[in-house]
Amino acid sequence: MLLTSRCAPDLARAPELLAARGGELGKPYFWLEETTSTNDEAKAGAKAGAPHGAVWVAESQSAGRGRQGRTWLAARGESLLVSVLLRIRCSPARLPPLALVAGLAVRDAVAKVVQSTAAHVTLKWPNDVLIGKKKVAGVLVEAQLAGTNVESIVVGVGINVHARSFPEEIAARATSIALESTSVPDRAELLADLLSGLDRDLPVAAMRGIGTVHARLSEADALRGSRVRGEQGEGFAEGIDLEGRLCVRGDDGTLRKWSAGEVVAIT
Ligand code: BTN
Repeated sequence: MLLTSRCAPDLARAPELLAARGGELGKPYFWLEETTSTNDEAKAGAKAGAPHGAVWVAESQSAGRGRQGRTWLAARGESLLVSVLLRIRCSPARLPPLALVAGLAVRDAVAKVVQSTAAHVTLKWPNDVLIGKKKVAGVLVEAQLAGTNVESIVVGVGINVHARSFPEEIAARATSIALESTSVPDRAELLADLLSGLDRDLPVAAMRGIGTVHARLSEADALRGSRVRGEQGEGFAEGIDLEGRLCVRGDDGTLRKWSAGEVVAIT
C-alpha cells in the first residue's frame, strides 16, 4: 500500500476501508498524486507482473483517456480516477459485455451515494453512467492479448465526484455526485463499493456471460424505449440482449443488434 500525506482526506481512508471489506480487488493499492493515466499505470503494472486485483488511483491525470480516442477531463482531486487490473479467464468476444457489466457496477456504486434520486442513475449503453440526462461516469476497458488469449484486462473508471463546474466543452452534458446529492460524497466509500461490485459481477460475466446480471442491466438501461441514433442508423432501442448488444428496431420494422459504437437518444 502506498500513501502520502498529500492524499485528500476523503481518499486517505481507502486502504483501510478496502482491507476491512476484504474483497479480492484493491490488493495492492497504489495511490498517485499525478500520472498520465491510471490505465497506463495499470497496463505497465500488468506487463511487470502485477497480480489480479491491483488497483491504481490518481488525484489527477495529464492524459486521461476516454473511449473512442477521446480525452477524459478531470480537475485535480474532484474525481475518482481508478484502474483495476483483472487476470481472469475471458474470451475476446466477452470483452464488450464485460465492459457493459463494469458500467453496471459503476452505476450501482453511484446510485448508492445519490440515494434520493437512485431511480435516475442509469447506464447508457455501452457504459456511460448518467444521472438524469447528464454523464457522471465513464468506463474504459483495455485488454492485453497474447494471440487470441486475453492475458489481462484493465478496467478504468472515471467518476465525477466533487466537481461543481466543468470545462465549457462538456458543461452541458456532465454532472457530478456533489451536484446531484444532498450528502457530501466520500471517494473512499465509493471506491470500496465500486470494487465490491466489480468483484461480484465481472468474474461471473467473464466465465458465464451476462445472464446473471441481465435483469439488473435492463432495469438500469437508459436507452430502452428511446429513439436512438448511432453509426449504424436510427431506430427505437428495445433493450440489451444476452450478448450485451443494443437491440434497435428500425423504421422498416427490422430488429438490428448493435455491438459497438456511440449512441445518442434523440427523444
Ligand atoms: C469514457 O466515458 O469515454 C471513458 C472514460 C474513462 C476515464 C477513466 S479515468 C481513469 C482511467 N484512466 C484513463 O485514462 N481513463 C480511465
